[in-house]
Amino acid sequence: GDDVIGLRAEAVGALARVDRERVTEFVGELLRPAHRIAAALHHGDRDTGLEHHAQLWSARLVTLAGPAERERQRQHRIGADLDGGAAGDAGTRGAAADDQRVAELAAQIDADYGDSDVLLVGVLKGAVMIMADLSRALAGQYPMDWMAVSSYGSGTKSSGVVRILKDLSVDISGKDVLIVEDIVDTGLTLSYLVQNLQSREPASLEIMTMFRKPEALTSDVSVKYVGFDIPNEFVVGYGLDYAGRYRNLRDVGTLAKHVYS
Ligand code: IMP
Repeated sequence: GDDVIGLRAEAVGALARVDRERVTEFVGELLRPAHRIAAALHHGDRDTGLEHHAQLWSARLVTLAGPAERERQRQHRIGADLDGGAAGDAGTRGAAADDQRVAELAAQIDADYGDSDVLLVGVLKGAVMIMADLSRALAGQYPMDWMAVSSYGSGTKSSGVVRILKDLSVDISGKDVLIVEDIVDTGLTLSYLVQNLQSREPASLEIMTMFRKPEALTSDVSVKYVGFDIPNEFVVGYGLDYAGRYRNLRDVGTLAKHVYS
């Protein structure tokens, strides 16, 4: 925070405190009548500084439904498709909210890379959630880039085909690179990615994944940082999807049968 010019520490702190609730409230505001949104925007015009902004946010929060209630409704709506809970007892349910595990991984990564500028490479789209949480838990100001590859179709079986849909926007030769993955199942995607990135001659290439399934252990790629080892089941939530859905679920769970049929 000392490197950010023009923001006083207290102001940043005040904003950070209201920020989580504010994100939830935005969802509510999208559903509000247009004239009320216009009034809210007009209100924002009178912005006189960061502290004022923070006060404005909290003042407006009380006029809306409580964030906890809205979150309960949201989880209830998505949760109806879940198979009554966790994929197993390896800590999958609640893993998303497990800031402690993310913090442990971040501390390890900080310690391993020290002052060197490791490039965090997120694999879209699943790694969006872990990248957001991990990067904010890191002390280092590491740069970030993204790749998109296709490995699964819209079902739950690996198609065996890996295609690059979006490549990195930076040259990684001579750089330290850390791939940030959501989940490693067969390891097929990773093994392709590692091969592809190695050919660009980075100084080092390591892998971090939030979840790992048993089959990954038989793959030829070694994953240095693992959030949770989970049972061999198809899971959704915390960035992981089924046919494009459920990524925005906070926790991770298996799907109820009626979703597949
Ligand atoms: P792999 O190539 O079999 O290791 O699969 C890697 C990719 O498949 C991940 O990056 C995910 O996009 C997807 N995937 C694997 N297992 C799951 C799952 O249980 N839920 C959702 N997506 C999964």
